[in-house]
Amino acid sequence: MKVIVTENYQQSCDVAAKIIQQTIQAKADAKLGLATGGTPVPIYEALIAMNKNGEVDFSQVRTVNLDEYCGLGPDHPQSYRYFMNDKLFNHVNINKENTYVVSGLGDPNANAEELERMVFEGGTPDLQLLGIGTNGHVGFNEAGDFVQAKSHMENLVPSTIEANARFFETRDEVPTQAISMGMKGILAAKKILLVASGPSKQDAIRGIVANDNITPQNPATFLKLHPDVTIVIDRELADLAGYQA
Ligand code: F6R
Repeated sequence: MKVIVTENYQQSCDVAAKIIQQTIQAKADAKLGLATGGTPVPIYEALIAMNKNGEVDFSQVRTVNLDEYCGLGPDHPQSYRYFMNDKLFNHVNINKENTYVVSGLGDPNANAEELERMVFEGGTPDLQLLGIGTNGHVGFNEAGDFVQAKSHMENLVPSTIEANARFFETRDEVPTQAISMGMKGILAAKKILLVASGPSKQDAIRGIVANDNITPQNPATFLKLHPDVTIVIDRELADLAGYQA
């Protein structure tokens, strides 16, 4: 596992964008596993700027997203399909037909099966971008007694619902379930890039960088099983998490 410590969150996002750019430069039709939430927004902004400057070409890029809220359709402003269009796809030269965000409407089991197929069909992602929850969840694979291998419907835990509430007008609107790529799909990516910032992520990051243990109580620790993981954190979070290079 490679840990990159930067001066600040913006620099972390610039580093992450550069790694994504290099992945596309090495393979024009790269398949990217993408994340939503607050963390990747400046990463996508940096990629949009690079695309406008001709530094990265999305014309052949394929994408598959980690998750989608159950109950929200693609036109809902807080759905992850809407987020991806709004924060990235509408602003770069990607063919939207090559982008996939699982549906949050309809039969969740059928949707989860489709997501699982989309992760593996045509080869697994060349790069999987991840944020991390305060409890160590990745792709909404929540902390608990076990993690699930295949894509599935996940019941979001109170701390996750609380964290997501900042994007909704009222607490009642915050979805309590999501369709989530399972740990097998995440770990099947050729390269994993996790970006984290902020004091609330310190316990989750400490669990990854401070020891060699793997536990479903911190699902991100399963990333230790992967041969090519890069974690980008800023100095403040590195210090809080007790990371020593
Ligand atoms: C989103 C996702 C989640 C987030 C996590 C952190 O697609 O998979 O696991 O990465 O909840 O969210 P932020 O970045 O908002 O702190």
